[in-house]
Amino acid sequence: MTDTRIHIPVLLEEVIAALSPRDGGLYVDGTFGAGGYSRALLRSASCRVIGIDRDPAAIERGRALAQEFPGRLEVIEGRFGDMATLLADHGVGKVDGVALDVGVSSPQIDEPERGFSFRFDGPLDMRMGRDGPTAADVVNTADEAELADIIYQLGEERMARRVARAIVAARREAPIERTARLADIIRSVVPKGKGDGIDPATRTFQALRIHVNDELGELRRGLSAAESLLAPGGRLAVVSFHSLEDREVKAFLRERSSPPPSPSRHTPVTAVAAHHPSFRLLSRKPVDPSEAEARNNPRARSARLRAAERTEAPAFPAPGKEAA
Ligand SMILES: C[S@@+](CC[C@H](N)C(=O)[O-])C[C@H]1O[C@@H](n2cnc3c(N)ncnc32)[C@H](O)[C@@H]1O
Repeated sequence: MTDTRIHIPVLLEEVIAALSPRDGGLYVDGTFGAGGYSRALLRSASCRVIGIDRDPAAIERGRALAQEFPGRLEVIEGRFGDMATLLADHGVGKVDGVALDVGVSSPQIDEPERGFSFRFDGPLDMRMGRDGPTAADVVNTADEAELADIIYQLGEERMARRVARAIVAARREAPIERTARLADIIRSVVPKGKGDGIDPATRTFQALRIHVNDELGELRRGLSAAESLLAPGGRLAVVSFHSLEDREVKAFLRERSSPPPSPSRHTPVTAVAAHHPSFRLLSRKPVDPSEAEARNNPRARSARLRAAERTEAPAFPAPGKEAA
């Protein structure tokens, strides 16, 4: 069932224009998904593409697509946060472009067995990959304060405390194992928004999905890995779907593209040297979908693309690492 569900690539033309693929180039599609970006890259230049996805179902689709482009597409199962190591293991040190289209794909959200959706009943899983705790593990073991924090921070749910309390009360009766039960628990304490048609379970499900997959941590590590992998002149294109993700991308690119602070008696010389911009923004403002795309593909409505070109300057230190 999964493979027949269609994922319409979002901001496809804009992403390809930003990456500006050239013959002989090597590009990374860090969120292979249904292969929409990879296919378009392979069609637009005589280039090679490495597709990465943490979801084994996406990798299976990738193997089928690779047969259409012999010797030009390789797919690797893994996280884009580990992109530099994954590529090094395949003998690749530098690339000409990196695309990230973060979040879930239509086949993931539409497949009840994956447990992402509050619209269909399924096991409360929500993992994009095969490892780590499931959403059921989180809702059945995290304490009330931690649950409220996750739901508030990652779902921006104002009634997070109320939802956490209801979850803890419900799991005392029986562990929460199914998406439909969790959705009902949330709906019993969060009223329907007036006129916006948004299901009250939306924000809590989003929060659990982001938490279970450490999506913001992955994004931070992925951006930094792309910075270290891109050759001078290489392009980075990132499509995000909500403000939490876009904030990360914007902050990363702002820091990496800002001129170094002017040296003063109080600024150590090494700190100034470490801050030459490693990226040049392709446009100051993010690119939003056209009206036609938003009309034809509801998933695209909240999407934004930010893109930048790698400079000659060394990469900034990776998160948690000191400047060399
Ligand atoms: C929105 S879809 C990408 C769709 C793709 N651009 C296309 O046009 O078909 C996101 C994909 O990224 C994958 N993904 C999300 N986070 C990931 C991560 N940290 N590492 C690797 N893959 C990830 C998901 O499993 C999903 O398949």
